[in-house]
Amino acid sequence: MALLRSLHVFLSLLLLFFNHALAVGFTFNIVSLGAKSDGKIDVSSVLQTAWAKACDSSKPTTIYVPKGIFYVRSVSFNGPCKNNAITLLIDGTLVASSNIQVLARTKFWLEFNHINGLSIVGGVIDGQGTALWDCKRSGKSCPNGARSLQINDTKNVNIWGLSSINSQMFNIVVDGCQNVHMTGVSVSSAGDSPNTDGIHVQQSSNVTILNSNIGTGDDCISIGPGTSNLWMENITCGPGHGISIGSLGKRTEEDGVHNVTVISSTFTGTQNGNGVRIKSWGRPSNGFATKVHFQRIIMDNVKNPIIIDENYCPHHKNCPGQASGVKVSDVTYEDIKGTSATEIAINFDCSPINHCTRLSLKDIKLTYENQIAQASCKNADGIASGVVEPSSCLA
Ligand SMILES: *[C@@H]1O[C@H](CO)[C@@H](O)[C@H](O)[C@H]1NC(C)=O
Ligand SMILES: *[C@@H]1O[C@H](CO)[C@@H](O)[C@H](O)[C@H]1NC(C)=O
Ligand SMILES: *[C@@H]1O[C@H](CO)[C@@H](O)[C@H](O)[C@H]1NC(C)=O
Ligand SMILES: *[C@@H]1O[C@H](CO)[C@@H](O)[C@H](O)[C@H]1NC(C)=O
Repeated sequence: MALLRSLHVFLSLLLLFFNHALAVGFTFNIVSLGAKSDGKIDVSSVLQTAWAKACDSSKPTTIYVPKGIFYVRSVSFNGPCKNNAITLLIDGTLVASSNIQVLARTKFWLEFNHINGLSIVGGVIDGQGTALWDCKRSGKSCPNGARSLQINDTKNVNIWGLSSINSQMFNIVVDGCQNVHMTGVSVSSAGDSPNTDGIHVQQSSNVTILNSNIGTGDDCISIGPGTSNLWMENITCGPGHGISIGSLGKRTEEDGVHNVTVISSTFTGTQNGNGVRIKSWGRPSNGFATKVHFQRIIMDNVKNPIIIDENYCPHHKNCPGQASGVKVSDVTYEDIKGTSATEIAINFDCSPINHCTRLSLKDIKLTYENQIAQASCKNADGIASGVVEPSSCLA
């Protein structure tokens, strides 16, 4: 399997590379531009130079990072550009500094802004976050840390076969983007690493995430306000806190989330695991989540396999006693099977002032310690069909 996959990725990379190198446009090899692959000398300015050339070209252009380890302090790749097909083709590894002070005042390690037509193919980006996680876990005062890959205000993006490991904070963020396709992405951060969401999507539409394998210390995929037409298929999540829509409703005025699908995916539990979650702050907001579809999902010892939590209020600050204004509606759960690590496998805890409506459960079988698990409903309306175990508590 793994061998086949790497062979496939390798051949496809080769094809892509030759397509670009021979058929169209230019290729800038960062080593030819002076980058050293010793993992110590900062290649940020070489990448920046390559980007300036690529962005200024009127033809499709590839920036090629060959095999080897390249140290990158931090880079912003900014558009708009004169062509709409720039590829960053990575055969080697980009590594961040392991010194937590280096990115202390930087929110993003690798950042792309205002581009139309961007591909990031192959390779490894290594955020070297372990020292920062240790600092955070020790309770000392530490820098926030940087997100490894931030893509802002960008259209027509392909991310293909990229591995993000040990990000200090969120691994990959898509913010304010349209038409983004991610395939064969892999994320790996320790199961107890703080705030290392695998992929975060917000204010974006038409995003697909396929065939990706995510293991991390926070949400495998988190979905923020203003997301629509998001399709996730064949995702393996674990360790991690599951796929989560939210937290929504942090702000009073907020864009909603609609048309989100998770299909044919597997969740493997850890102590903090979750399956599919919709989560909102317990405070006033005009936010919403609607037309959400979870189908063909396997849960393997997952804490909270199916959960809607509309009472999120960390540290009981700025919301205790308040009800969530976020409206959750039209959510379907179909063909979800496996084992729960908590007795309550289905937990709908919806807002007392804004009930969840049109929830639907179909063909569910979740067990807890070899017995049928339990379902809990608060303010949750909807229907069940097929065989649903634990039996539905929807009103
Ligand atoms: C990218 O988006 C982030 C989050 O919205 C923002 O903080 C940052 O300033 C943006 N960068 C640019 C160059 O627009
Ligand atoms: C998103 O996809 C929908 C449906 O395929 C399409 O109608 C719409 O134009 C797309 N939006 C953008 C911004 O490309
Ligand atoms: C699912 O994704 C994995 C990679 O995580 C891939 O190896 C496998 O071929 C994909 N399955 C399908 C049916 O596409
Ligand atoms: C919902 O999103 C999917 C892609 O994720 C798209 O194909 C479909 O057209 C969208 N539906 C609507 C009603 O926009």
